[in-house]
Amino acid sequence: MPTYFSYPEPALQKELKATAEAIVAPGKGILAVDETNEGIGKLLAAVGLQNTENNRRRYRQLLFTTDNLSEHVSATILFDETVYQKTDDGTPFIELLKKKNIIPGIKVDMDAVPLFLSLDEVTTQGLDNLATRCAEYKKQGCRFAKWRCPLKIGEHTPSVQAINDTAQVLAKYASICQSQGLVPIVEPDVLLDGDHDIVRNQKVSEQALAAVYKALNDHHVFLEGTLLKPNMVTPGHGCSKKNTPQEIATATVTALLRTVPAAVPGIAFLSGGLSEEEASVYLNAINRVSLKRPWALTFSYGRALQASVWKTWAGKDANTKAAQLELLKRTKANGLASLGKYEGGSATSAGSKSNYAANHRY
Ligand code: 13P
Repeated sequence: MPTYFSYPEPALQKELKATAEAIVAPGKGILAVDETNEGIGKLLAAVGLQNTENNRRRYRQLLFTTDNLSEHVSATILFDETVYQKTDDGTPFIELLKKKNIIPGIKVDMDAVPLFLSLDEVTTQGLDNLATRCAEYKKQGCRFAKWRCPLKIGEHTPSVQAINDTAQVLAKYASICQSQGLVPIVEPDVLLDGDHDIVRNQKVSEQALAAVYKALNDHHVFLEGTLLKPNMVTPGHGCSKKNTPQEIATATVTALLRTVPAAVPGIAFLSGGLSEEEASVYLNAINRVSLKRPWALTFSYGRALQASVWKTWAGKDANTKAAQLELLKRTKANGLASLGKYEGGSATSAGSKSNYAANHRY
């Protein structure tokens, strides 16, 4: 084994660690609004609006101008275009977020493409010019990034090829982010699609996470300055056997304990198609399970924070306030859940029961 290595400069370590810890501050989590233009286009179409730059801006303005948003939201993940957008009165979104004490971050992966000679699996693009893009986002005020790699459970998947590819891509991404002063959120996403049971998901999640942390170590990634954004360990959407929140919590924390070093300050789950209420109830159970939990365990939800907002807004300015209240309801429910203090059913929301869509694209 070659043994040359070095650590980031102390000042960079300090900055990355402080940012990562601030994102997972007690009772807070991440509002993920990094849908691609294609992804948000479907949501706009569902409320009868065209997929224009201005409509995308109007919707995200609604989110960011919500009063008291920072009570349970420490950070938000933006899409490239959003970094440069402004409110109606000309305030850059990033300035508004900073004033509210919400840390801006940025999705930097450039989407999934087929992984050649695999069984319908994917790899994620965007490494080539990543350092330059990270430097630009940092200049604009972003302090962290996220990169998502989906893994599909099937009879013969995920393959060793896909797991190794995911691990290498995430490690390379994390290393480049840190070189530019951004905290990398590492997101291996074992999808909800499929009819597998919870045990299968647990094993796949453990194998994927073990490979990811081996690769992060091989690339000298400074773990204290990273966050993990994984799936919860649940049965597949098509599985006939359902599990209780306690079973899901036990399987999830067990998988994480076996694979994620305690040096990682926090784990912020994706919602992956769970309903808003399921995402809150499961997070709460995770924070109450009687197992060791050396990291903060919180949320980084997209659909499970926004489904009710979309339904209530329905594309009409007159509904803005009511939609913002829906957002606050869900951020509060999840903020409490991150402390193990959410009472299931206490936050009734307007959103539909499930947010699952087969082969969902962000
Ligand atoms: P969902 O919570 O909708 O799965 O989104 C997570 C995500 O990765 C967006 O950043």
